[in-house]
Amino acid sequence: MNKSHLVLGITGGIAAYKSAELVRQLVKQGYTVQVAMTDAACHFITPTTLQALSGKPVYTDQWDAIIPNGMPHINLSREADAIVVAPASADFIAKLANGLADDLLSTLCLARNCPLLIAPAMNKEMWLNPATQRNIKQLISDGVQIMGPDSGIQACGETGMGRMLEPERLTQLIADSFQPKLLSGKKILMTAGPTYEAIDAVRGITNRSSGKMGYAICQAALELGAEVILVSGPTALTAPFQAKTIEVQSAAQMFDAVKCNVAGCDIFIAVAAVADYRVAQESIQKIKKSSSSLTLELIPNPDILAYVAALANPPYCVGFAAESENLAAYAEQKRLAKKLPLLVGNLASQAIGSDDNEILLFDDNGIHPLPRADKLTLARQLMQYIAQKGAI
Ligand code: C5P
Repeated sequence: MNKSHLVLGITGGIAAYKSAELVRQLVKQGYTVQVAMTDAACHFITPTTLQALSGKPVYTDQWDAIIPNGMPHINLSREADAIVVAPASADFIAKLANGLADDLLSTLCLARNCPLLIAPAMNKEMWLNPATQRNIKQLISDGVQIMGPDSGIQACGETGMGRMLEPERLTQLIADSFQPKLLSGKKILMTAGPTYEAIDAVRGITNRSSGKMGYAICQAALELGAEVILVSGPTALTAPFQAKTIEVQSAAQMFDAVKCNVAGCDIFIAVAAVADYRVAQESIQKIKKSSSSLTLELIPNPDILAYVAALANPPYCVGFAAESENLAAYAEQKRLAKKLPLLVGNLASQAIGSDDNEILLFDDNGIHPLPRADKLTLARQLMQYIAQKGAI
């Protein structure tokens, strides 16, 4: 990657204090960083701080005379390999979505001939406001890369979506944006999370899958430029919003969603921990405690992955196997039984619920281990593997 020149735009939000750390990390990674700040940003953090960290004068004024030809918006944007706006306030996002150019930063964004990446940061209600969501959709269709936001505790004391991503994550996403988009034009259908098989109105059968691995794979696939349809069982996670997410509960619903969406897909990745059985007779009402024992009849659920792999013209199918023992033998057996080009094996004790994992990839070439790492790192390695070895 050519680690060259970034323009970092800072707009007015409390997350601006994190921009100082972002500059430090980008410089450490070898980028040159030219900072441009809005007036509002200067209320949160001083240009002097950013100047010290970037080692360059900071621009705040459209009418700045430092630029020899008097056209800072053209000069700064022409020198940039990418423009990053972090934090991007709701107001600035609205400006970008509408092509307004009433200060230096908005003008140089409009005048750019390079990629634009923004890291939204705002109160959760501002983020969820239909106007902001409309503006974000507009920016996505204009080709702007949206990084985050994250959810969690906010400076105002509320909790929800709208936190700016941490500088480390932004640095990673900026680096990724320079990578070749190996899966651009590819359509991926995937399942993630557990399923919930209702027994009665309040009880059900489920499992301990958190959905973390599946959601990380979804994120990694999006980063490589794929279009992703994520069919997800119940999880506590927020799906990357560039994915088309279909929320389901039961294996039967997951199966229906997959059947409806599989046509035209290039890759199918079955990460979901699908319940193998459901109760034969779901009770609409809560079952009363009437006798000393209760017998439930369980019947098998459809095998979604096996169905897709057996289609006449199947997508490239990737399965997962979580085993508690004999991982290598069981995983390879499963791959052959379901006729999969690639199967990802992991130990249930290592994988379920945790933030990191270690996995083995089984394909016709043998076993390829991916050593212990956080799930997003593994997901990125897996998607690179799929893109390079398998599906394209
Ligand atoms: O449950 P099993 O170990 O066979 O799961 C292996 C793979 O098959 C996983 O990728 C899982 O998502 C998929 N699967 C499925 N439908 C099922 C059971 C498993 O798609 N009913």
